[in-house]
Amino acid sequence: MFKVNKDYLKLPGSYLFSETGRRIREFEAAHPEKKVIRLSIGDVTQPLAPAIIEALHDAVDEMGHEETFRGYAPDLGYEFLRSTIAEHDYRARGCEIAPDEIFVSDGAKCDSGNIQEIFDKDNKIAVCDPVYPVYVDSNVMAGRAGTYDREKETWSNVIYMPCTSATNFAPELPRETPDMIYLCFPNNPTGAAVTKAQLARWVDYANQKGAVIIYDAAYEAYISQEDVPHSIYECEGARTCAIELRSFSKNAGFTGLRLGYTVVPKDLKVNDVSLHSLWARRHGTKYNGAPYIVQRAGEAVYSAKGEAQLKQQIAYYMKNAACILQGLRDAGYRVSGGVNAPYIWLETPKGMGSWQFFDELLENAGVAGTPGAGFGPNGEGYFRLTAFGSYENTVEAVRRIKEM
Ligand code: MLT
Repeated sequence: MFKVNKDYLKLPGSYLFSETGRRIREFEAAHPEKKVIRLSIGDVTQPLAPAIIEALHDAVDEMGHEETFRGYAPDLGYEFLRSTIAEHDYRARGCEIAPDEIFVSDGAKCDSGNIQEIFDKDNKIAVCDPVYPVYVDSNVMAGRAGTYDREKETWSNVIYMPCTSATNFAPELPRETPDMIYLCFPNNPTGAAVTKAQLARWVDYANQKGAVIIYDAAYEAYISQEDVPHSIYECEGARTCAIELRSFSKNAGFTGLRLGYTVVPKDLKVNDVSLHSLWARRHGTKYNGAPYIVQRAGEAVYSAKGEAQLKQQIAYYMKNAACILQGLRDAGYRVSGGVNAPYIWLETPKGMGSWQFFDELLENAGVAGTPGAGFGPNGEGYFRLTAFGSYENTVEAVRRIKEM
């Protein structure tokens, strides 16, 4: 008889955004008269920028002619996209990243879940608490997380690094030494950012301890403050300890189109084994490359027209963030984030449980958000709203919350 992967059975409940999505749909079905405003999952609402649409059309036309038709994409990504990324996202910021250190994929969520595969099961991971749940759940599936404590809602083999208001939602160096450290800045879910000096401490620490940092920079396009780094490779020494994950979802609206990439520098080695080779082997075996037309669309993100149009799109969402921040502050909420990230992190009123606040907000204001507890124990008592709605819906959501 076949056996299942028992580690899957250890996972409590369903994936956070599947659960919130289900509850919102149930509420909508029960109250068809209410127009729910979704500020829950971080999904974009603005259409793709004209420069991207144009590139897509051109690429589709190419696929319709024998001379320009493309079959399988190179499994690590087309050279035209990898070199464009290396130039614009790295060399322009003074980071030494070569095109062949960039692995193009169908998104950062998949990469952040898959990257743990190239590491031994005995590694100990450290995560921020609260945390984007994919980092923990994918390590649970791989059998690396230990056993689950239902009361504490923690895993025995995971080091949790509390990110609280006392530290501006940044983690402190852990007492116990981890092997793999997951960091995401600007942060999902808190919207917090770290300075280059703060990030450099993590790079030094990882190099000193022989740990690897898996750095999720999916929200870098939202950075507005000068001293906040866009890439971990802005810190000296990161090439020997850090992998970086990037996404086209949030900076260019590709949540439905799907495109991302992972950087694995060739200097990142343990006992002469290169992580670059392992990830290339994994990619080559399990992946057939992101679609040609999508990679051409990705290239257009870096064109002069694309950059100008996307700058406006980011400004649009950050206007929403400012509206939520100010509106909630006026209503007496304690709020943070929303300055270098499209997420607003608010304290639930009167110490209310975050799932209870989720229900109250849905029922009384018709606004959906994400309960902080879904991101980890230190998320309890907090709630996340996204700035990815339309401006009109955002203004209306804030009005409704103020009236609650
Ligand atoms: C979120 O809401 O946290 C994100 O949209 C999830 C994701 O990017 O996978």
